[in-house]
Amino acid sequence: MSGAEINKLILACLTVLLVMLLIGNVVNELSHSEPLERNAYVVIPSDEPAAAAAAEAEPGLESILPLLASADPDAGQKAAKRCAACHTFNDGGANKLGPNLWAIVGKEKGTVDGFSYSDAIEDKGGVWSYDDLNAFLADPKGFLKGTKMNFSGISDAEDRAAVIAYMRQQADSPQPLPE
Ligand code: HEC
Repeated sequence: MSGAEINKLILACLTVLLVMLLIGNVVNELSHSEPLERNAYVVIPSDEPAAAAAAEAEPGLESILPLLASADPDAGQKAAKRCAACHTFNDGGANKLGPNLWAIVGKEKGTVDGFSYSDAIEDKGGVWSYDDLNAFLADPKGFLKGTKMNFSGISDAEDRAAVIAYMRQQADSPQPLPE
């Protein structure tokens, strides 16, 4: 081997070595991990989703509680004509497409004798509070997914308050108004 050939060989070896060092550096740089200053993801405390869900339940629904005291049951009776195809409101009234609604305020949901309810209403449970009636009448299928009540809802809060005030009166002993 001539001196020049040996030089070439050494040069080739050095080049290979240099390239390997460079690759090693790059790999090192890529896999390099130091603890981040803060988490790249956000941990939500477990009580937050529940609050968010509660706020999501009836987005933007106006409460009727402040409206009830001044709501007009007579206007409510007129507005309730929209319900009359399916409901009676008098004592001992018949079940039609929907159940009789005598004394419905404060009554356990889905418990009128002789009416065959959807599973949705029976699963929901609890009594018909003013808030629940408000949410149900605003958006029946939104409040009670799977309900048999085919009614699009009453969008105006004052109209809902009037209908609920009328339903409240249709009872032997009307429920107290909210404070
Ligand atoms: C197209 C028929 C129809 C119309 C219109 C209708 N409803 Fe209903 N309603 C039903 C049916 C059916 C049910 C039973 C729902 C179920 O089982 O999911 C029901 C259930 C109810 C309940 C719950 C009764 C219970 O025993 O728990 C209330 C309260 C109610 N309706 C009020 C109203 C009011 C107030 C109106 C008018 C603003 C109205 N509904 C309009 C058919 C109707």
